Amino acid sequence: MNGTLTLPGLIDAHVHLREPGATHKEDCRTGTAAALAGGFNTILDMPNNQPPLTNLEVLRCKQALFSTKALCDYGLFAGYDPRQPQALTALAPYVVGLKLYLDTTFASAALTSEALDAVFRDWPGPGPIAIHAESCSIPLALELAARHHQRLHVCHVPQPDDLLVIDRARQAGTQVTCEVTPHHLLLTTEDERRLGAFGRMKPPLLAPNLVDLLWQRLALVDIIASDHAPHTIAEKTGPEPAPGVPGLETTLPLMLQAVDEGRLSLDRLLELLHHAPARIYGLPFDSGQVEIELTSYTLPAAGYHTRCGWTPFAGKRALGIIRQVTLRSTVVYNDNQVLVRPGFGRNVVHN
Ligand code: NCD
Ligand code: ZN
Repeated sequence: MNGTLTLPGLIDAHVHLREPGATHKEDCRTGTAAALAGGFNTILDMPNNQPPLTNLEVLRCKQALFSTKALCDYGLFAGYDPRQPQALTALAPYVVGLKLYLDTTFASAALTSEALDAVFRDWPGPGPIAIHAESCSIPLALELAARHHQRLHVCHVPQPDDLLVIDRARQAGTQVTCEVTPHHLLLTTEDERRLGAFGRMKPPLLAPNLVDLLWQRLALVDIIASDHAPHTIAEKTGPEPAPGVPGLETTLPLMLQAVDEGRLSLDRLLELLHHAPARIYGLPFDSGQVEIELTSYTLPAAGYHTRCGWTPFAGKRALGIIRQVTLRSTVVYNDNQVLVRPGFGRNVVHN
């Protein structure tokens, strides 16, 4: 591919912009600048903040921060606090979905299977229940989704065999969709050996043969999302490095490179980065667009908009320099410059 490519505005349906509570890693402004620089004009932000978004008070605080700082459009996920289960009903109309951390909450013994059943029974929607789950917990979530007629979205599928389990449930009528990340598709445990903590995230990278299987089963995947989870270089080189890697600025060039290599079609990529996330999370139709110059290059180690300032993909082949991004008929980004003021971004949920 060469020349210029114009695509509809892309959606990253899984990011952690760290606000409130961890703005030394990223904040709403730097995170949404990274989104625009990566060709995304809409992001969906996870609730594991400090404090976590598990009640209306935190929602209002986070919404106030985003409404004055966001450069691109955004949706927020609600989180679940077993001590305030009734908050979910109040939060539901204002968020794109409910994010459940199945295994960490299980491990803390705070979330019993009765409580989990009640969450699936009582979540009013309209957004889906999105889960962070290890392979062993996926069947239970599928069963609960089927029992309570909930829409379930499995975030960053940890193993290629999980795709078969999810597909079987889907064939049997369960409303389930799923997502994989660029790092699970393009890095392996061999990269992790080289990258150390900079190659560690949840779920962990896969062995090369399992990465091959993930590609073979890509037809079963609905969304590609970055799970942009920035941590500082000091944290990653410290005694207890947190899991997570940034990804907003590398997803599109890496995936366009994969298209160029014939690993998936451009139409399919558009489905994974635009149509499916818009459909699954009920996002507005008028999406703007992204203009890309189809130049081939090697991803640099630095020079990104994300505050964390590094990428696990340095040295990888990439295709496409993001030239311009529009949003709601406004040019918001052009040639490495953000052209709108913080606060231009809107919440995609109008309530
Ligand atoms: C996430 C983060 O840093 O917020 N990290 C990650 O590796 N995906 C948290 C998490 O989902 O465990
Ligand atoms: Zn995440």
